[in-house]
Amino acid sequence: MKIFAFAASNSRKSINKQLVSYALTYFDGYDKNLIDLNDYEMPIYSIDKENENGIPQLAYQLASQIDESDLIICSFAEHNGAYTAAFKNILDWISRIKGRKVWNDKPIFAMATSTGARGGSSVLEIASKRIPFNGGRVVDTFSLPTFGENFDLEKGIINDNFRNELEEKINRLKSTLVSTV
Ligand SMILES: Cc1cc2nc3c(=O)[nH]c(=O)nc-3n(C[C@H](O)[C@H](O)[C@H](O)COP(=O)(O)O)c2cc1C
Repeated sequence: MKIFAFAASNSRKSINKQLVSYALTYFDGYDKNLIDLNDYEMPIYSIDKENENGIPQLAYQLASQIDESDLIICSFAEHNGAYTAAFKNILDWISRIKGRKVWNDKPIFAMATSTGARGGSSVLEIASKRIPFNGGRVVDTFSLPTFGENFDLEKGIINDNFRNELEEKINRLKSTLVSTV
């Protein structure tokens, strides 16, 4: 079982990447591929650049990694209530690959966290509603509010309620996957 994982942020200290890394610790024995969006930086999408130079190879590379996976785990950083520009740019390029549904029917566990009390819930709602239109299946969502209070670099989620919620969702996800993949 292959997991493709990413944080939808290009921050080198991304709290969403910390959350994804933590969630992955619950997937012992799985083949895990956690990528960094900084390794997939592409020109800002424009139809003119696409017509002149085509779609960047990096977009195809990312698409292949999605295709090779059985499950996608991601966590969305929220900038002004929406996707980060870094993620949206990559999404736009991949969506231009001909004949492709961005998420290629993969199950997606979508998370978000932020420094604020709403835990990135706006971007998580946007992503959850939109992902099916790009051919993904959101199997569950998880939002961690006020990251600074609820997460410790060494211990992970330190708030019992949020940790229990995540563990329950991951356990449910694993049992669903066993029966469908
Ligand atoms: C340009 C910008 C806009 C932001 N907008 C929001 C926002 O709308 N909601 C929110 O909860 N946090 C917002 N934040 C704070 C982010 O939650 C915080 O920077 C967080 O660390 C982003 O996640 P990351 O570390 O994974 O990139 C914003 C931060 C920046 C730099």
